Amino acid sequence: MPKFTPRVFSGIQPSGGLTLGNYLGAIKRFVEMQDAGTHETVYCMVDLHAITAELAQPEKLAHNTRELCAGFIASGIDPEKSILINQSQVPEHAQLAWIFNCVARMGWMQRMTQFKDKAGKHAQNASLGLFAYPALMAADILIYHATHVPVGEDQKQHLELTRDIAIKFNHDFGVDFFPETEPVIEGAATRVMSLRDGSKKMSKSDPSDMSRINMTDDADAIAAKIRKARTDPEPLPSDMDGLTDRPEARNLVNIYAALAEITPDAVLSDHGGKGFGDFKPALADLAVARLGPIGSEMSRLMDDQPEIDRILARGAERAREITAPILKRTYDIVGMVG
Ligand code: AMP
Ligand code: TRP
Repeated sequence: MPKFTPRVFSGIQPSGGLTLGNYLGAIKRFVEMQDAGTHETVYCMVDLHAITAELAQPEKLAHNTRELCAGFIASGIDPEKSILINQSQVPEHAQLAWIFNCVARMGWMQRMTQFKDKAGKHAQNASLGLFAYPALMAADILIYHATHVPVGEDQKQHLELTRDIAIKFNHDFGVDFFPETEPVIEGAATRVMSLRDGSKKMSKSDPSDMSRINMTDDADAIAAKIRKARTDPEPLPSDMDGLTDRPEARNLVNIYAALAEITPDAVLSDHGGKGFGDFKPALADLAVARLGPIGSEMSRLMDDQPEIDRILARGAERAREITAPILKRTYDIVGMVG
């Protein structure tokens, strides 16, 4: 294996508001990896992925893309330290994706659980793009020769596919060109659950707004959603073993731990024995203290769209210094003349 530059890549779809799940499972960790300074970091709004589910909504897509960019920056992504891009502005992503469509096998794609979940009973009516989605995701990562990808638990299977594509490409052409990228799925909040149902992931697509905390929610909304979150009548135990069959309680403890940057066991050593009547207000105060400033910074940034667009144009320029040579080399390996 050649030595690859330590490089982090990750992406989020501009398909609606950002949730606390996106923040704790993804963006907060993106910021930590950026600030650690051990890797180059590239973060992306994946607009080409967003249109696999919903296409003819141009104003909404543009708004969501800029809002996501504001969310990244308000959360601490520094467009000087990291490369911050919108996927469609770096055409090499889509170009490499086509090659990967020809590397990946139908059988591999048919096993993808996210496709099955998203297409549901209407698979015949899903877009071809939704089916090919994981090959584009592999291209996002491998067009940077990224070595590490921080994501939430739900993306694990897509990262395994990314490795399978890299291995097959390298093997078929007898090269050591693409790295076998490592997923980074860490922390107390790799799977933040719905506030209404502890068996479902917190998601921007859940019909109930009470099921999630949005990054743009104000202090009153955050506090009300936590107060009304579903729980059980038992007090909190003194360690995590006591939460095995209590998914809603476990979720709130994990959220507290991730926001406070302590372990779930440390939360329980402080709050064990308390009922939710005491714990929920403490969690609400913490959530408001952490998320409030991010929400207001997002709305401030959204008032200066030309600045957001300049940041994205500059990000794309920097990204292409990495992606253009990797695409050129890929085309050479494949035998494309030019
Ligand atoms: P998406 O909004 O589906 O594009 O997801 C963007 C990132 O947020 C991915 O890394 C997801 O794994 C992560 N993510 C989304 N929802 C959650 C959740 N409920 N808990 C933890 N991570 C999440
Ligand atoms: N599929 C990811 C999600 O829904 C988003 C994504 C697209 C991504 N390309 C990526 C994540 C590359 C990490 C790396 O969350």
